[in-house]
Amino acid sequence: MILPIVAYGDDVLKKKAEEITPDYPELKQLIADMFETMYHAKGVGLAAPQIGKSIRLFIIDASPFADDDEEDLSHLEDFKKVFINAEIIEEEGKEWAFNEGCLSIPGIREDVYRKPNILLRYQDENFNTYEEPFEGIAARIIQHEYDHIEGILFVEHLNPLKRRLLKNKLSNISKGEVKVDYKMRFPNKKR
Ligand code: NI
Repeated sequence: MILPIVAYGDDVLKKKAEEITPDYPELKQLIADMFETMYHAKGVGLAAPQIGKSIRLFIIDASPFADDDEEDLSHLEDFKKVFINAEIIEEEGKEWAFNEGCLSIPGIREDVYRKPNILLRYQDENFNTYEEPFEGIAARIIQHEYDHIEGILFVEHLNPLKRRLLKNKLSNISKGEVKVDYKMRFPNKKR
């Protein structure tokens, strides 16, 4: 089932999300619905707060990046994963810029600086625990989704001037005054 994606301005996107246990109700279905929702919106990552649930769960499928013409990113072809109760243990290296977007903030893309290497502890959909290093674009997508379960949006990484320039656009998004071709829920929409 395709779920509506929560737009910028909703409080659920600002909350630090809660850990879950294997008895979380209908988790398998929720994960399946999140993948369906993400593919429908042509995203490469989706975090549970973006569908209105403040829990530490996000999903990633980076395979669209594997078709890149300029760089060999074929290793991303099978980078499809479920991350539960993730914690970033380490972040290292010289920050690099990557043009990020977010399904909750349609129509805005900006360069965001983040460190290239992370060490992540997480559980998969069967609650097996891993401690795994990630780098490059894989790390980047994880960092963006991880921010969501910490209540942080990518625009918060921009400098104050850039943010000020985006203020009206962001306000319009929260009111639903934006063109978007997937289902969304807008916190400040007038009816
Ligand atoms: Ni996002």
